[in-house]
Amino acid sequence: MARILITSAIPYINGIKHLGNLVGSQLPADLFARYMRGRGNEVLFLCATDEHGTPAELAAAKAGKPVEQYCAEMYEVQKDLAAGFRLSFDHFGRSSSLRNRKLTQHFAGKLAENGYIEEVSEKQMFSIADNRFLPDRYIEGTCPNCGYDRARGDQCENCTKQLDPTDLINPRSAISGSTDLEVRETKHLYLKQRSLKDKLEAWIDSKTDWPILTTSIAKKWLNDGDGLQDRGITRDLYWGVPVMKGDQPWPGMEGKVFYVWFDAPIEYIACAAEWVDANGKTEADWERWWRTDKGAADVKYFQFMGKDNVPFHTLSFPATILGSGEPWKMVDYLKSFNYLNYDGGQFSTSQGRGVFMDQALSILPADYWRWWLLSHAPESSDSEFTWENFQASVNKDLADVLGNFVSRVTKFCVSKFGNEVPAGGEFGPQEAALIADLGARIKDYEGYMDAMEVRKSAAELRAIWVVGNEYLQSAAPWSAVKTDPDRAQAIVRLGLNLIRLYAILSRPFIPDASAAMMAAMGSDDWTWPDDVSAALRALPAGHGFSVPENLFRKITDEERADWQTRFAGVRT
Ligand code: MF3
Ligand code: ZN
Repeated sequence: MARILITSAIPYINGIKHLGNLVGSQLPADLFARYMRGRGNEVLFLCATDEHGTPAELAAAKAGKPVEQYCAEMYEVQKDLAAGFRLSFDHFGRSSSLRNRKLTQHFAGKLAENGYIEEVSEKQMFSIADNRFLPDRYIEGTCPNCGYDRARGDQCENCTKQLDPTDLINPRSAISGSTDLEVRETKHLYLKQRSLKDKLEAWIDSKTDWPILTTSIAKKWLNDGDGLQDRGITRDLYWGVPVMKGDQPWPGMEGKVFYVWFDAPIEYIACAAEWVDANGKTEADWERWWRTDKGAADVKYFQFMGKDNVPFHTLSFPATILGSGEPWKMVDYLKSFNYLNYDGGQFSTSQGRGVFMDQALSILPADYWRWWLLSHAPESSDSEFTWENFQASVNKDLADVLGNFVSRVTKFCVSKFGNEVPAGGEFGPQEAALIADLGARIKDYEGYMDAMEVRKSAAELRAIWVVGNEYLQSAAPWSAVKTDPDRAQAIVRLGLNLIRLYAILSRPFIPDASAAMMAAMGSDDWTWPDDVSAALRALPAGHGFSVPENLFRKITDEERADWQTRFAGVRT
């Protein structure tokens, strides 16, 4: 039994996430967490809301609410949606927690102590009308690169160029629209990432098993001309972790907060502390996951995220940890994803284009979405959601292959032999062949799941369902029952056991359907089938079962057409 720490990139608090966000981090992290638990490991799976910085402040202002209240409300919304998608976090925390505030200030203090912080006087845009500095998204203007007239201070949405607020042409305040701006001096803290470059490089080079997508992004940022720059880690904002040196005030930094990307990854650690607080556990209980001097040396730590997050997890956050000089657990394996596109374009939060988490659950249960998203995860390249493809996958994989198998076996048994596992006959050569085939396929499935090869895992699981159908088709108990009822009983006995086996193997992908299958088989023994032959004898003759109600239903052409129009854009 291993100890597995898993974190998903923590979603921004502002607004409900779309399915592209979901499949890029939280959902595959959940798949892996469920699988690792299923194999009997000790798992700690953490996520949280990313609450600070300009995205939260601006969204709250738009909603006409104090930012604290806005965040508290949106936290509940996101938490409920996560539960709706059956994301099995051990804790869903908040980056605005007191735990994270303390820890963030602690890291800053350590970095300063170790000489990795520099105080820099720099020029920032100041709005006279708003009487405040305008960092990042607080300022809009024309992009110097492409001419787009609604570029933001941190980035141009149109051409994706990273910008500085002072780069914008005709800048204006995103709060008031005022153009009465001037450049003023302000003092900020910089993390001296450049002096950590060698340490970072050595650490990245030691990660020989990382996927190419992850390593190539890390290397690019490390070595490109303007790659690893010293980085401003404070902002002139109201909402954030107040700048402190440990628990001491930081002279000259009064009224400033840490940059959201400085405190957000620290929440991975703080979240474990929130988890112990919420469950009456002790400090030692979270430290054994995070401090290598306190038991975390044998923890294996996995992170999941979209590709845009990779630089922050391979460089910035590791720089924070390495620079602290303290024995914190660092990530062992970082799984990153490309983007999911939507029906010929992109998902767009600002334009309301695509399907958002709340909308998805309002039209179909979580398993349908989980199955499609995971079996089409954007791993080696971007992938695309289309309603045709979604309909086809659900109808074929879930309804025709898995659902149909379950319903044929259970209904046939009830009609011929009643609702107990029948006792007749013995397993013969056909069953031996099936068991051998399944054994090999389950090994492959485990290999893919261990390696976080999400699509390949889904394909193998589907193949495992198909094998059951093929067996049933060729063993044909409906024919055997006429001449050799004992033989038919043996086939059905195997089929019922196969349903329980499917429940266990499928649980990481489709937890609700798996629970329904297991319940219908009158069992709650989720032991992983290390021995297939034994697993297919787990339900003995005479064991009661029931026919599960419609495991999956098919999506009709009318529904598909209706949803396609409904989600074409402009979220209401
Ligand atoms: N909120 C960020 C995003 O959605 C992810 C933050 S991940 C963490 O892109 F490392 F900062 F926690
Ligand atoms: Zn541009």
